[in-house]
Amino acid sequence: MPGLGDATRGRVLFGGDYNPEQWPEETWHEDVRLMKDAGVNSVTLGVFSWAKLEPRPGERDFGWLDRLMDLLHEGGIGVVLATPTSSPPPWLGHLHPETLPRDEDGRVEWWGGRQHFSHSSAVYRRYAAAITEDLAARYGGHPALTMWHINNEYCTYDWGDEAAARFRDWLRTRYGTLDALNSAWGTAFWSQGYGAWEEVLPPRHAHYLKNPGQVLDFKRFTSDMLLECYVAERDIVRRHSPAHIPVTTNFMPLWAGQDAWRWAEEEDVVSVDLYPDPRDPFGAQHGALVQDMTRSQARGPWMLMEQAAGPVNWRGVNHPKPRGLNRLWSLQAVARGADAVCYFQWRQSRQGAEKFHSGMVPHAGEEGRTFQEIKQIGAELARLAHRVTGSHVDCDIAILHDWHSWWAGSHEGRLSTEVDHPQLLTAWHRALWQAHLATDFAHPEHDLTAYKLVVVPHSYALTDAAIDNLLSYVRGGGTLVCGFLTGVADQDDRVRPGGMDARLRALLGIRTLHEWWPLDEDETAETDRFRGILWSEEIDPAEDASVEAVYKGGELDGLPAVLRNGRAWYVSTLPEPHALRALLAGIAAEAGVRPVLDGLPDQVEAVRRGDLLFLLNHGREAVAVEVPGSRHDLLTGAQVGGEVMLGRYGVAVLAP
Ligand code: GLA
Repeated sequence: MPGLGDATRGRVLFGGDYNPEQWPEETWHEDVRLMKDAGVNSVTLGVFSWAKLEPRPGERDFGWLDRLMDLLHEGGIGVVLATPTSSPPPWLGHLHPETLPRDEDGRVEWWGGRQHFSHSSAVYRRYAAAITEDLAARYGGHPALTMWHINNEYCTYDWGDEAAARFRDWLRTRYGTLDALNSAWGTAFWSQGYGAWEEVLPPRHAHYLKNPGQVLDFKRFTSDMLLECYVAERDIVRRHSPAHIPVTTNFMPLWAGQDAWRWAEEEDVVSVDLYPDPRDPFGAQHGALVQDMTRSQARGPWMLMEQAAGPVNWRGVNHPKPRGLNRLWSLQAVARGADAVCYFQWRQSRQGAEKFHSGMVPHAGEEGRTFQEIKQIGAELARLAHRVTGSHVDCDIAILHDWHSWWAGSHEGRLSTEVDHPQLLTAWHRALWQAHLATDFAHPEHDLTAYKLVVVPHSYALTDAAIDNLLSYVRGGGTLVCGFLTGVADQDDRVRPGGMDARLRALLGIRTLHEWWPLDEDETAETDRFRGILWSEEIDPAEDASVEAVYKGGELDGLPAVLRNGRAWYVSTLPEPHALRALLAGIAAEAGVRPVLDGLPDQVEAVRRGDLLFLLNHGREAVAVEVPGSRHDLLTGAQVGGEVMLGRYGVAVLAP
């Protein structure tokens, strides 16, 4: 399997989505000049080119792309070539309305935007395969080609009739018989028993709460259908290209519609699009979370496929990046394992829905601050490349996350809509990030033996295999910390007897879990050590468990809030941020996990990648950092030791 290494050849890929069809050909030459000026060595081409490549059904117009591929190659710029299948031309929907998806109310998603295709449509898949085949046959051997990019941000759902038929096929494969389906979905409830496959539908608009098993399987089905679309195109491009050309598709961070653990197995390179809000005080931590997740899915170097050089245009208010922030967040991605730093998009559009979304070349042109900063980043990445590419980030801590559990745990009939899986992941990751502890993410069934500490912010549904895995991890010497709502349900979202798997209860020192006591938005639960938010529980501890924190006052007065049973911990509320940080830092220290660097100021993040130490100042104020020994700063060329000064949004990349 090729990896990113074959595409980078020792360089950090630097560039962005290039949409030359929006510009006259003279501009293309200007683009290549500016790309060379900025150190751009990679562009992603053709993401939205279907209508230009196939102006009428079956016609092909490759002339413009031939000229471009040659032009870029002459300029020394590699091409990540996209299949254009995420935005079909208007003629497809016009001739074949059945290719258009429908929402749960039966409304059609028309052309005029993008991503108006049904993953289940045989006609869509046929046309997508045909254009992919011809594109791959023509450019699979082109010397500019460095990577294939399939579709773009796969994210569509479809509740229409063809999707319904595919859903039934998918369910037949999963369950074999209607009896098995009725059992998995618990259709004895509310008279929902199915007597014929034809009666089974996607979870369309309904009067009241939908069947949770049906909703869960529809999410699984959607992820699988989109994956089928990806795999079909991937296999076509692979047939036409040399074995070293990798294939990717770009993920959206923590996107609910794709089981990205499963998807990553089908990719040569894992790539992600990342757009933290420049005004978000925790933007850097959001970035770190997504980067940790993507690196874990890639099991090594990964690709930042898209970020913004300035503002996006899809928030209510879209702020530019202050001076230095683009550089800081780009280097943060490299620190956390990225071997590619790319943007949406190269040249800011003058028309269309995204004309106010920034580009590497802004409306202000090459004199603009944005482009000047891009040039600096390009030059610095070139300086770092030979020392970083291919190297790994090692972590002693894994945070568990699984899409199926997220899906099951977010059903509308749950006890508290305040409980939100991404928010819980974020809270636990943030606590560890603020404690300067490096984290991977892992699936509950992954091999966890390499980690000293595993934390489980919110794994509501766990399979038997996952529970076995956690038990043997702790038996083998690992330390485990579980948050509330761990292991409540099985893979069918069937509540386990006792409200939590019995073996997990024994592991965590819980004798009886009497009731869950969710908290209102502004409510807190007092304990003798901290305040909890969001949730609390009425628990009896097992005899040999030690009670580490106790609820104070209210109905739960005197009952355990935090339990410990040897190396296994259970936290039945969400401690306030500083308390969660202190709790996890203490447990990590006991498990032998060290912070990346001791004595770091709060606003400074330290990351080790290979033998390099990255120091990132997320503050606007300059700050001094104590670094033991003498080191070489790869960005400035200076020898530093003792105290390293970091300016506003400053970065140092220190080699031994
Ligand atoms: C996504 C898409 C791009 C563009 C950007 C805007 O990442 O892949 O085509 O729309 O969002 O932020």
